[in-house]
Amino acid sequence: MAVVQEKELLCKEWLSKPKKLLINGKWVEPKSGKYFESYNPATEEVLAKIPEGGKEDVDLAVKAARHAFENGPWYRKMTTAQRARCLYKLAELIEKNADELAQLETLDNGKPIKESRYVDVPMTAETFRYYAGWATKIEGETINANSDFFTYTLREPVGVVGQIIPWNFPMLMLAWKWGPALACGNTVVLKPAEQTPLTALRLGELALEAGFPEGVVNIVTGLGPDSAGEFLANHMDVDKIAFTGEDKTGQIIVKASAGNLKRVSLELGGKAPNIVFADADIEAAVKGAITGIFFNQGQVCCAGSRLFLEKAVHDEFMDKLLERVGKMRQGFGLDEDTVIGPQVSKEQQERCLDYIEIAKKEGAKLACGGARPEDLKKGYFVKPTIFTDVNNEMRIAQEEVFGPVLSVIPFKNIEEVAEQANKVRYGLSGAVWTRDVKKAHKLASHIKAGTIWVNCYNVFDPAVPFGGYKQSGYGRELGKHSIELYSNIKSVWLNLAD
Ligand code: NAI
Ligand code: MG
Repeated sequence: MAVVQEKELLCKEWLSKPKKLLINGKWVEPKSGKYFESYNPATEEVLAKIPEGGKEDVDLAVKAARHAFENGPWYRKMTTAQRARCLYKLAELIEKNADELAQLETLDNGKPIKESRYVDVPMTAETFRYYAGWATKIEGETINANSDFFTYTLREPVGVVGQIIPWNFPMLMLAWKWGPALACGNTVVLKPAEQTPLTALRLGELALEAGFPEGVVNIVTGLGPDSAGEFLANHMDVDKIAFTGEDKTGQIIVKASAGNLKRVSLELGGKAPNIVFADADIEAAVKGAITGIFFNQGQVCCAGSRLFLEKAVHDEFMDKLLERVGKMRQGFGLDEDTVIGPQVSKEQQERCLDYIEIAKKEGAKLACGGARPEDLKKGYFVKPTIFTDVNNEMRIAQEEVFGPVLSVIPFKNIEEVAEQANKVRYGLSGAVWTRDVKKAHKLASHIKAGTIWVNCYNVFDPAVPFGGYKQSGYGRELGKHSIELYSNIKSVWLNLAD
């Protein structure tokens, strides 16, 4: 087994150093005096003690961000090209430290090292590079509405932005949040997920090295309720909150925003329909179904967790799918051969196992998996699990499991599947597999979701917007749309009349 040996761990020395909060360009101990533990989900061992930021720490971070925004050089003095340079430099430093960051992400989250190395790290760097490009291209407009006035708009940053992120793509979510916010000239306070705070802390160091002025990026680690997350969401001097996580938490964030009517953008869960017609390239669709549900151990908001199979191809498809899934190698993320690692936490493992029991009781048929693997004694593993004979009304088809648990739902025709695809409260994504362009387009237009993939799954690019319909949230991240999330338009009227 090609497991990375302890001596090959590039982040070992860094891990052993005390972890602190990043406030006003300095690493500081939490005023709360409290710490919590971050675990390696593959071994259940403690990786590091992490400061539990409290109210006072959040206040200090917001104060630093406010001061940096109003009085610091970042927005008021630096040129957009200088701001872009910081973002480019950060992308460069991420690439320079790619192997270390990939190991750290895998240790903290559990995901296979190949995914950290070839997906998370490069996409994080590319996202910063993409938004570095935007920093010099954010413009207002002139409007010839009335010849007595010269009228123009300014596109200005929102100000101090609070960003609360989840544990499934810790580094990438940071980049999706920091990239556009910083390109616009905002200052930020980031609250990483308590399960996976390590890469954010390392990126904080790299941000200082990249030359971001003090107070521009602040990081307060901590928990959600009655901790850093809640205090940030409620803070009266935060102008905007960007949140990714559970829909129930999203509702709390919206309520918390009411105090000062801060702006909110939300990227929440999903229960995506992945629809396969009999006329599709079946081999490709089988691979797509696997990527759709098992990538990142199924801990993906846009996971293709409802697999709709046209009846004519159902049995053939299932045979091929089960054969491939049977060969998936589950194990430690640091093992080069691993394609599926552990769930991020005991809580998430139990959530998956609970849903497996619910599905059985509802009458769904277990086709594979359905338990933790017998050969892995430690770690929060759940076997890749597939249920057939699911109907769209069952809880297993309606609620987000956020794990490697697939529901297979047979369908008769396009009318039936079109109706069922939308019968869910979420609307983040969907996919269609067919060689018939008419069917593909019909469903692409019909499905109420922010992203539709045709004959592919989980394809991303920093230039392509991503976000939800319905209870999957609002606002679009990535692309130019994220610039809109993080800026305000100001109209200026200049009287030219005599
Ligand atoms: P969560 O929504 O509780 O956590 C996400 C972030 O929000 C974390 O940083 C957390 O500390 C923070 N948070 C939690 N409660 C808060 C509060 N009251 N005020 C402010 N911040 C708060 O999600 P959790 O509990 O980690 O996972 C539960 C489920 O949520 C998952 O099983 C999955 O279904 C969903 N989820 C969806 C994600 C997505 O990408 N859309 C990511 C993570 C979880
Ligand atoms: Mg929670």
